[in-house]
Amino acid sequence: MRNSIIRQSMTVEPANIADIPFIMSVERSPGYQALVGHYDADEHRRRLVAPNCTYLLCRVEGQPVGFAVIRRDDDGMGTAQLHRIAVSPPGTGYGTTFLQTICQWVFAEHDVERLWLDLLPSNVRARHVYNKLGFVEEGIMRSALRLADASRIDLVLMALLREQWSGGQAQGIQSDLPTTEAPVSAT
Ligand SMILES: CC(C)(COP(=O)(O)OP(=O)(O)OC[C@H]1O[C@@H](n2cnc3c(N)ncnc32)[C@H](O)[C@@H]1OP(=O)(O)O)[C@@H](O)C(=O)NCCC(=O)NCCS
Repeated sequence: MRNSIIRQSMTVEPANIADIPFIMSVERSPGYQALVGHYDADEHRRRLVAPNCTYLLCRVEGQPVGFAVIRRDDDGMGTAQLHRIAVSPPGTGYGTTFLQTICQWVFAEHDVERLWLDLLPSNVRARHVYNKLGFVEEGIMRSALRLADASRIDLVLMALLREQWSGGQAQGIQSDLPTTEAPVSAT
């Protein structure tokens, strides 16, 4: 019910340079820095124009509520990474609906067979959302993340395959995402 109401007012479209301050503010929402990475403006600008990255901005009733970064792997294997996703405020249902839209877009519009991500084992909210949408936990990436103090911690590897994705879940979401180009398709 909540999901279908949010769908009616949510739009997802490619972000642009002017959206970087909003993206940085979401990354720096209270409590988020322990859960999701953050870049400075120069790094975001560099990535936003990189040919293998797609920045998506999520709006609800016209107001920006979150962003995601999809990064195409360049090994020709038809895979892409959900490199970053964050919405603010959390726990309102926006993240689930946003991620459904992303999956719909990745699998319906682009030549991607596997959408993968990694996350901190302690990020139980994100883990719940990924599980709910069909992402499968594939294992632990040992010592995959280096912290500011140079210590290292494990990450959980999760992935969703095209064949597991039920595209019908996301029908009806208004999206202005391009359909003629394939910014996340593997080469
Ligand atoms: C992860 C994120 C994008 C999810 O978006 P969201 O809008 O908060 O998620 P939703 O409100 O759609 O759903 C949250 C779900 O987590 C559940 N949840 C909340 N806290 C939880 C907890 N401590 N343990 C388990 N599940 C939890 C909620 O019950 C809800 O599930 P339900 O719809 O089945 O009841 C968002 O929380 C976020 O931006 N977090 C900070 C950044 C981050 O962690 N990004 C991901 C990095 S891998």
